[in-house]
Amino acid sequence: MTALFDELRRTEFSRLDAGGHVYLDYTGGGLYGESQIRAHTDLLLTQVLGNPHSQNPTSLASTHNIVHARERIHQFFEADPEEYEVIFTLNASGALKLIGESYPWEASSRYMMTADNHNSVNGIREFAKAKGAIIEYLPLNRELRAENLENLLPEVDRSKPHLFAFPAQSNFSGVKHCLDWVELGHSRGYDVLLDAAAYVPSNRLSLREIKPDFMSISFYKMFGFPTGVGALLVRRQTIEKLHRPWFSGGTVKFVSAQNKMHLLSSSGEGFEDGTLNYLSIAAIPSGLDFLERVGMDNINAHVTAHTETLLKGLLALRHSNGQPLIKLYGPANMTMRGGTLAFNLTTPYGELVDSFTIEQKANSANISVRTGCFCNPGAAEFAFNYLPDETYHCFTTIDPDQFTVQQFSTCMNEMPVGAVRASAGIATNEQDVQHLLAFVKTFVDFVPSADHIWRMPTIEGLNP
Ligand SMILES: Cc1ncc(COP(=O)(O)O)c(C=O)c1O
Repeated sequence: MTALFDELRRTEFSRLDAGGHVYLDYTGGGLYGESQIRAHTDLLLTQVLGNPHSQNPTSLASTHNIVHARERIHQFFEADPEEYEVIFTLNASGALKLIGESYPWEASSRYMMTADNHNSVNGIREFAKAKGAIIEYLPLNRELRAENLENLLPEVDRSKPHLFAFPAQSNFSGVKHCLDWVELGHSRGYDVLLDAAAYVPSNRLSLREIKPDFMSISFYKMFGFPTGVGALLVRRQTIEKLHRPWFSGGTVKFVSAQNKMHLLSSSGEGFEDGTLNYLSIAAIPSGLDFLERVGMDNINAHVTAHTETLLKGLLALRHSNGQPLIKLYGPANMTMRGGTLAFNLTTPYGELVDSFTIEQKANSANISVRTGCFCNPGAAEFAFNYLPDETYHCFTTIDPDQFTVQQFSTCMNEMPVGAVRASAGIATNEQDVQHLLAFVKTFVDFVPSADHIWRMPTIEGLNP
């Protein structure tokens, strides 16, 4: 295994070592292998590709590439083409917005979410709210897991549309949720949205085994290139429920200007606006081929092993007075967790060093980690034990034009407003992990100036 990944690092990702990079932001974006780029360059250099919406030879060549990409996506996720439609979008957010705007929300609909969804899943609630739907979050425990869903997810009236959404893997804490919740959601009367964007880069997912109504992904997170293409995998039986709120070039079978009428394509194409990104979509098969050549189970084992080393290494670090050097958010072991670690550094006195200070120093060391809340405010609120009343007070009293997260922290009495996130992926090696550990070690006994200190949340506000 190590030999396989060492060889990959040398042959496919040599640019990392050539540039002296320690890249640990795979949950932000995956890295492409060189062979993917060569395969795609060959394709571009040998094919003449026109706009797909026509019958001329170059148009048909693009159509062929798009059809092939859809087929490969079906194969990769073991999705029966009779059952699942692949709709190309700009990214996972584009896929999620399609659901929000097309779902037949009603005043009596429920939109249920675990609290650790990405903002692009949270944002769907604005469409639901506009139709008067009930919106509810399911809480997280101290490990930032949702639990006890069997009791918390209410049974709903099956004659109305209801949606339950959760991430297969949290992009904040790395927590993997139980995929059986898809069936639990169905059995309680919900359509189920599985946001798989953070899960599929390093986990095999089969739509023969689990059957969400909607699944959102971004391809750059899986294999780095191309950016600007994502997909919504949607069950055909669920598409029939959706109402596209507009039409555009490419989405229609027929439009009459005279009669102000239109007939939307009945397939997933009715959801793909305008000209697809046909040159980039043509690169998707080589990305999926690359992952399959390496093997999803190998990638999973590799990411798990490096994450475990990093996790154990971070948890073992101590200040000279014996105080732990990091405050971890999420599970402290590898049970049902992926390759994403969120944490803050502490001072010897148990306060937190603001994550932006860490980021600056990491940048200087050419280490790519990410700081902030990672577009996952619900997980952050539970991680930092925010009290809803305090959050509400600060959110409503700070002038929106002047709003900064630092001001928000001040208003919250110096509560943390961010964490450091390190995430492992296909090209991670032992040196990357040791570099990050050595970097974190430089903060032993470090005490920043008072304006870079956050207080350690101690109020048992939200966590049950
Ligand atoms: C779990 C999850 N869902 C959705 C998204 C949104 O993806 P994109 O920014 O590619 O639209 C992300 C991005 O980080 C994510 O991690």
